[in-house]
Amino acid sequence: MRNALVHVVGARPNFVKAAPVLRGLEALGVPQRLVHTGQHYDVAMSDVFFRDLDLPRPDESLGVGSGSHASQTAALMVALEKVFTSHPPPLAVVYGDVNSTIAAAIVCAKLGIPTAHVEAGLRSFDRSMPEEINRVVTDSLADLLLVTSPEGLDNLAREGVDGERVHLVGNPMIDTLLRHLERFDPGPVRQRLGVPERYAVATIHRPANVDQPDAARRIVLALQEAVARIAVVLPLHPRGRASLEGAGLAELADRGLMVLDPLGYLDFLSLVRGSSAVITDSGGIQEETTILGIPCLTLRPNTERPITITHGTNRLVEPEALGPALDRALAGEQAMPPDGPPLWDGHAGERIAGVIADWLR
Ligand code: UD1
Repeated sequence: MRNALVHVVGARPNFVKAAPVLRGLEALGVPQRLVHTGQHYDVAMSDVFFRDLDLPRPDESLGVGSGSHASQTAALMVALEKVFTSHPPPLAVVYGDVNSTIAAAIVCAKLGIPTAHVEAGLRSFDRSMPEEINRVVTDSLADLLLVTSPEGLDNLAREGVDGERVHLVGNPMIDTLLRHLERFDPGPVRQRLGVPERYAVATIHRPANVDQPDAARRIVLALQEAVARIAVVLPLHPRGRASLEGAGLAELADRGLMVLDPLGYLDFLSLVRGSSAVITDSGGIQEETTILGIPCLTLRPNTERPITITHGTNRLVEPEALGPALDRALAGEQAMPPDGPPLWDGHAGERIAGVIADWLR
């Protein structure tokens, strides 16, 4: 398919965002190919998502794997350059803020291949986050900027991005959530994993929280406060396991902490749906809890998703303040508005497909 556009995905959150866009474009008859960079490669980090989300098998799998930021991004660029040189597509679609995203955006810009960035305009204004660098660079290079949330429009306008390239389309991650909502059944998952009836779910993987021993120790102390209040289930990203264990995570096992391997999409969201609260440093989970109406406590000093805070479901919390914040969340003091943010309605993929199809014409 010489004239097929190319989607570039590489990491867990990309898969969740790409699924509705692929479906939307398929419905319009737009030819497309899927390239998986292999940034995430474990069965639990990649294959499970393809199965759970009914994603098509990638047309190309590049198997790039892990590395430092420079070596991973460089390897991604070398591999993607080969893909794009052999079959230059009319458009490449890139997702979110991971290293696969920025690598594809740079390669395409230099080969003169236009790009569409899904989830453009998010800003934490914290350049110590690798993802913030990835967002700013990708948006500065993209030809089509597909924005999930209204504050993204202001962020891009402030950076001087031409408004003609920018489209507010809503949130494709929420499309995926709403599409599979009926399949999120906490009971069987709890039973299979031995999770008690009342529990909180935690996820921790940000470099700022797990890469340094001091930071990991703060997280373990925060989790110690949490398990003093409620059982906590922690599906652990491979990135943080060694440092959190070094900081004493295992000692919390007999005090109410269940550490699990990473979970697939359906198992994870089933557990979240049945939980009393979520403790996280992930970006996407701040959004998913907004729609599921679960109080979310985010262990970060800032967020690129401020709409989840103004909406009321999410709070930024210092690790030292997690205990009291969890008390308030469990007491039902965190707001749970019934309606989601504008255009988080399950139809973002169709809108994105419409914008892309118009642009291709
Ligand atoms: C990446 C994204 C992050 C996103 C996260 C979602 C970047 C810069 N970061 O972080 O924004 O929130 O994905 O999960 O792209 N590893 C495995 N198996 C895998 C993949 C990774 O064991 O399948 C381990 C490796 O030790 C690797 C480490 O996890 O070095 C980090 O993986 P990497 O892709 O560099 O970044 P993430 O931390 O996963």
